[in-house]
Amino acid sequence: MKTRITELFGIQHPIIQGGMHYVGLAELAAAVSNAGGLGIITGLTQKTPELLAREIARCREMTDKPFGVNLTFLPTVSSPDYPGYIKAIVEGGVKAVETAGNNPQKWMPLLKEHGIKVIHKCTSVRHALKAEAIGCDAVSVDGFECGGHPGEDDVPNFILLPRAAEELKIPFVASGGMADGRSLVAALALGAEGMNMGTRFIATKEAPVHENVKQAIVAASELDTRLVMRPLRNTERVLNNAAVERLLEKEKSLGANLKFEDIIEEVAGVYPRIMQSGDMDAGGWSCGMVAGLIHDVPSCQELIDRIMGEADQLIRQRLAGMVG
Ligand SMILES: Cc1cc2nc3c(=O)[nH]c(=O)nc-3n(C[C@H](O)[C@H](O)[C@H](O)COP(=O)(O)O)c2cc1C
Repeated sequence: MKTRITELFGIQHPIIQGGMHYVGLAELAAAVSNAGGLGIITGLTQKTPELLAREIARCREMTDKPFGVNLTFLPTVSSPDYPGYIKAIVEGGVKAVETAGNNPQKWMPLLKEHGIKVIHKCTSVRHALKAEAIGCDAVSVDGFECGGHPGEDDVPNFILLPRAAEELKIPFVASGGMADGRSLVAALALGAEGMNMGTRFIATKEAPVHENVKQAIVAASELDTRLVMRPLRNTERVLNNAAVERLLEKEKSLGANLKFEDIIEEVAGVYPRIMQSGDMDAGGWSCGMVAGLIHDVPSCQELIDRIMGEADQLIRQRLAGMVG
């Protein structure tokens, strides 16, 4: 399939694997890229720029296809060494960066100077337009369904994607709630040029996470995610578990007085315990409503081949048949 997204990134299929903390390691990024999509290494999971450089080199050993790096700009007090991370990206010959979290304007000249294509992930049309205005090559439009941080506007993709199509000139991919060939065809119909998936790629053979995480996603239904940290205006969609229920109780009882310190035990530093050790009640971890559509743990190649086969059949048979 050829779209502006496949052309932009030099990939075979318009499918991107979104950056995921403690999931987007070289193994997953390489597997997605080898299967014809765009795999993405999560920059900040690597504690230093040197470690990111090593992860990029490891990925390069596993694939000769294009892959990218996610740079999440966090509202933290002690800012990570972003110039160092960008240096590792440039020196590693990576040509695609997925930015997220905050406006990447400050880093655009440096990225553009090195011919890096930037796809910014955002959850509203106004942020997508801002990304376009500052020179991003594409955007990833993340609907309210998404795993991770859906923002505070709560607009689901059936509205958000066509709204983005009405306003944007640069290409965009649909993100949030995407799982299969139906998602891809729907995303294309709504104006996107491809799709970005997070949760679906965790339940794959190559995702370098504990088996418990994959099985939790397969077992979950579309009713099993919760929104946490809403009172802090840092909303995150997570899979429900004992820690999340405790956190929500605190949010209820403390109301407007809630501070980050009150919930630190349930959210800070929990990713390695969940993703590596499989301690499923360690805290809140991002997961999309799309878990309800995930019933198996295929390889990335099997998953992407299946998606493209389903999409082809949907377009050529079901939809073409309807219009005669
Ligand atoms: C476990 C997990 C961790 C994530 N970590 C990040 C991250 O570090 N940076 C980022 O930009 N997005 C992160 N995301 C969001 C994904 O890149 C993607 O936008 C989102 O999962 C799409 O929604 P979906 O899960 O419905 O496919 C994360 C998502 C999940 C499920």
